[in-house]
Amino acid sequence: MRVNSLLDELANIGTNRSGGYDRLAWTRADSECREWFISQAQSRGLDVEIDRNGNLWAWLNPTLPGKALVVGSHLDSVPRGGGFDGPLGIASAFAALDQLNDMLPSRPIAIVAFVDEEGGRFGIACAGSRLMTGALSSASFLALTDRENVSTAEAMRAAGQSPDLVGLDAERLACIGEFIELHVEQGHLPTSSGVDGLTVDEPLGLATAIWPHGRWRVDFEGQQNHAGATRMDDRQDPMLGLAQAILDVHQMAVSRGILGTVGKVSVSPGAVNAIPGTASLWIDARGSEEIMVLQAMAEFGRNALRESWTPSTSFSAPLLEAISRAIGRDLPLLPSGAGHDAGVLALAGIPTAMILVRNPSGISHAPEEYAEDDDCESGVLALAAVIRDRSA
Ligand code: HGY
Ligand code: MN
Ligand code: MN
Repeated sequence: MRVNSLLDELANIGTNRSGGYDRLAWTRADSECREWFISQAQSRGLDVEIDRNGNLWAWLNPTLPGKALVVGSHLDSVPRGGGFDGPLGIASAFAALDQLNDMLPSRPIAIVAFVDEEGGRFGIACAGSRLMTGALSSASFLALTDRENVSTAEAMRAAGQSPDLVGLDAERLACIGEFIELHVEQGHLPTSSGVDGLTVDEPLGLATAIWPHGRWRVDFEGQQNHAGATRMDDRQDPMLGLAQAILDVHQMAVSRGILGTVGKVSVSPGAVNAIPGTASLWIDARGSEEIMVLQAMAEFGRNALRESWTPSTSFSAPLLEAISRAIGRDLPLLPSGAGHDAGVLALAGIPTAMILVRNPSGISHAPEEYAEDDDCESGVLALAAVIRDRSA
């Protein structure tokens, strides 16, 4: 099947009224995407498995000897996200297998859909892969709650999954020989071709590394009080500290040459006519060098609480070379400013690589995220060539 026909089947799941998709982990939309995954796998005769952390696996020849070649990505989105970040990698994997009907694999092959990659609901990105590798402890994961104070365990149960066995899955890790994630390009970062982003000449690229990135929370305390009955001089308004901190994050990022974003704030009680009692903001900070990000955040101060951190991650050079050989041409090389499950697996010592598909807008985590049909099809051909090369 063509990859865009597969993506079309997801087009009505979790649509946001103002464009894009709301497919946060363990919501109804996420479950519908997972049901689609299961039906796609079953229609191809693949064995479906849900692991102890809720990641979905579709296996071809699981009993063959040797470590598995795993391809895939994720199905969840950020709030009002695009339709390609995640699903493109999964749909491309199914479409690639469709091109390989004649192949007799020499090793197990799996398509994986990692759960809760975006962390859009509970704040920790790549929860499914991090739990699997042990980078996120089950205790830390189970302590998370969403905006409505629903815990991860409650969310998993509501989606028909059990939280009882979440955590390091060493046995599964030991079965993974290589992981390749195909993904839509995000941003237009400098490539080995000397230009920013994938160009008109080549729809595909290879990610060589993921920039170090982390998330921090800053809390501001005030005194909740009446907006009409409290003199300006008498207020303890946490919004002032919050506003100044947002400006400072921007200034810090510009002056340090890193990326700093405040994309989420929480204000309590959140009434127009009440001075807030508390306010919080979350900082997403990233950059090309770990030291630049960590130093900037250390100097930012304000008791910023680090909620997650992913160091610089390099993908496997031999696997990247093997991909170029299998595809039959050298693809532009570029870093990824976005985090991925592929990075989590790479940090766990699994040879890992990423194929990126050109995104003309460069926009991601927004409804404008886009890839042309023909470019997506090129991605499928490349993935099929790689799967054949690595497992025929
Ligand atoms: O936030 C990220 O970098 C990723 O898209 N999850
Ligand atoms: Mn994303
Ligand atoms: Mn993604």
